[in-house]
Amino acid sequence: MDAIVVEHDDPHPHLIELSEPTPSDGEALVRTLRVGIDGTDFEVIGGSHGGFPAGDDYHVLGHEAVGVVEDPNGTALEAGQVVVPTVRRPPAGSNEFFERGEPDMAPPELCLERGIDGAHGYMAEYFTSPAEYLVPIPDAFADSGVLVEPMSNAEKALDLAYASRSSFAWEPTASLVLGNGPLGLLTLALLEERPEIDRTYCLGRRDRPDPTIDVIERLGATYIDSRETPVAQVADAHEPMDVIVEATGYAKHAFETIDALAPNGVGALLGIPDDWSFEINGGRLHSEFVLNNKALVGSVNSHLEDFEAAKETLEAAPDWFAEALITDVFSPDEVEDAFTRDASRIKTVIEFDAL
Ligand code: NAP
Ligand code: BGC
Ligand code: ZN
Repeated sequence: MDAIVVEHDDPHPHLIELSEPTPSDGEALVRTLRVGIDGTDFEVIGGSHGGFPAGDDYHVLGHEAVGVVEDPNGTALEAGQVVVPTVRRPPAGSNEFFERGEPDMAPPELCLERGIDGAHGYMAEYFTSPAEYLVPIPDAFADSGVLVEPMSNAEKALDLAYASRSSFAWEPTASLVLGNGPLGLLTLALLEERPEIDRTYCLGRRDRPDPTIDVIERLGATYIDSRETPVAQVADAHEPMDVIVEATGYAKHAFETIDALAPNGVGALLGIPDDWSFEINGGRLHSEFVLNNKALVGSVNSHLEDFEAAKETLEAAPDWFAEALITDVFSPDEVEDAFTRDASRIKTVIEFDAL
């Protein structure tokens, strides 16, 4: 079967031929429909994040997948069922985080991430997975199911952020998403659905016309250009924000978020930047946290409930949303084009098969 990999001696994503996998006990065989590409894939390809499976000189990419059960192999799944796989797997046997159903809270040394860190991903015609990590979704999601995994990351981040404000009467109304990549736009759509949030903003660094600015404005949010209004000036230029979700991977935004927050506000950090040393006024930031009861939470990955919530959020999103987000669909043999970064694209997917 065709698989898209990077190899130690060829770090550009390319096609290789692998044998079709055989499911072990408790695993199902899945025929891949589509696999999405996000910022993390470029970090993996660039070598700044994740790593190859131990002992292999190739790494099958892809962690945002949708597929159809080809062989349930005695599991509770049914042949023909459309499913989305989760990303994290236990490194050997299991551990308390997986047993509790909280793999997203495992530290890096206690989890593998398929297509990202230490395990093969889903960019192949078939993959196998324990049935417990395959989330059934309606057939209608066969095309847009690639959005479920990244939306689940946004769901988890917002849950963590809200949980940190749960000990007092908190009434958030204004929210800001930093970043207009696919994760930022999915997070914006999620915030748009929250009844308590009246005003939404999304920050990027693009000129119009731009497809991401179109999505931002169609969702009813205000676009902020960070070249004109840096994050630290957003509170003065617009308003102080109760909730901020960072999805740029731009390390200064973690600290600038503190200045953009309203008193009692919370910021969730999702980006995964490289090492970068710069100066900050640590004393002022420290007192800003304390005197205004502000919080910053880091958030990675998601668990099954977040996948369920993501399905519901995507079902409730406007009809045009998934189609506007998935701008480019490539076949596996167009792999080079698929991994070319281009501002006209939002979510690029590789289509292995149709339902
Ligand atoms: P992406 O496609 O790289 O999007 C990042 C966006 O941020 C881009 O649109 C970029 O604008 C914008 N941006 C970067 N620096 C900016 C700045 N200084 N001012 C304004 N806009 C800026 O990545 P993604 O897939 O949306 O993911 C975002 C980040 O979250 C990545 O670091 C990814 O690894 C991480 N991530 C984390 C999780 C998690 O669970 N924690 C899950 C998924 C992704 P341009 O395109 O114009 O350059
Ligand atoms: C994936 C998450 C993963 C994170 C860190 C994201 O792009 O969607 O599942 O935990 O990267 O590797
Ligand atoms: Zn991702």
